[in-house]
Amino acid sequence: MEIWNGGDWSVKMLVRSLKVLSATGIGCIGALAALLYFAQTALIYPSNFPAGSRTEVQTPDRYDIPYEDITLETGDGEKIKVFVMKQNDLDLRLSGYTVIICCANAGNMGHRLPIASAFFKILQYNVILFSYRGYGLSTGKPNETGIKLDSETVFQYIVHDQDLKTTGIVLYGQSLGGAVAIYLAEKHQSQIRGLILENTFRSIPSLIPSLLPIARYFTFLCHQKWPSEELLPNITSVPILFLSGLKDEIVPPSQMQYLFDVCRSPNKILRQFASASHNETYMKDGYWTSIIDFSNDFIDKKVQ
Ligand SMILES: *[C@@H]1O[C@H](CO)[C@@H](O)[C@H](O)[C@H]1NC(C)=O
Ligand SMILES: *[C@@H]1O[C@H](CO)[C@@H](O)[C@H](O)[C@H]1NC(C)=O
Ligand SMILES: *[C@@H]1O[C@H](CO)[C@@H](O)[C@H](O)[C@H]1NC(C)=O
Repeated sequence: MEIWNGGDWSVKMLVRSLKVLSATGIGCIGALAALLYFAQTALIYPSNFPAGSRTEVQTPDRYDIPYEDITLETGDGEKIKVFVMKQNDLDLRLSGYTVIICCANAGNMGHRLPIASAFFKILQYNVILFSYRGYGLSTGKPNETGIKLDSETVFQYIVHDQDLKTTGIVLYGQSLGGAVAIYLAEKHQSQIRGLILENTFRSIPSLIPSLLPIARYFTFLCHQKWPSEELLPNITSVPILFLSGLKDEIVPPSQMQYLFDVCRSPNKILRQFASASHNETYMKDGYWTSIIDFSNDFIDKKVQ
């Protein structure tokens, strides 16, 4: 569920563990169930991959973007690292748009700088990039409850920041980040101007039958749910762009189609990329044009 090379670690690790279990003949139901139950946060949130992800985080100056590197403390005491990239142009800084980038499930925020850069330079948005707890240089261990708290903490920072509180807030999420963005959008609907979702899923349990057929009878053990398919229909006033890679090998493209179908926002757009796999959709022709068009048509009229 992440965007870069190295692919889908969580699944690779789980499949490998299952193979070992069955090969050694101890692949009994209990062992499998225990593995799925206790290892699932490590499998779903592989924040150590690729190697170095917990110690090295690239910074926006690599892309010549001015930034502040700040630390926010969550209600339960974790320290969340955030890059705040504000436009130099005062109009854009105060009355433009601010996108919160919700990251996929591996690596850290530094790996999403190409996306931050496109939003900053092409769309001229202010950009917020953050590492969930247990990712990059943020403290703690990730799970659904904690990541929701982290994203809420970041949201509250923006709505209280002197520069950014007057801007329109846009949410962007890839894969797991899509679930985070849907969570925030549902909660703060009246304060969100647009939602952009890429290759995200109906829920974590819904991915099990296609990703891990061997574990399909244990879906009930999955305690990390991210129930986007239940929350999304509640978002009725936010324009939503769905970006779907039709060669996605991790999240079946039918899941994006499903989310689009149950979406009740009157302003919804689905863009499909025929040759795009899970981790490279954002590099396909037409991807950024789709976002610019969406921004022009539904969020803002400034970008040409
Ligand atoms: C995406 O994943 C595939 C296979 O896992 C890999 O070959 C490719 O290089 C990756 N692309 C990017 C942009 O990371
Ligand atoms: C999730 O993380 C929070 C905060 O670290 C912790 O209090 C909670 O017990 C965890 N929940 C589960 C199901 O592990
Ligand atoms: C959708 O919104 C309604 C009304 O605010 C709320 O009662 C319901 O719990 C929400 N659905 C979900 C899945 O959160």
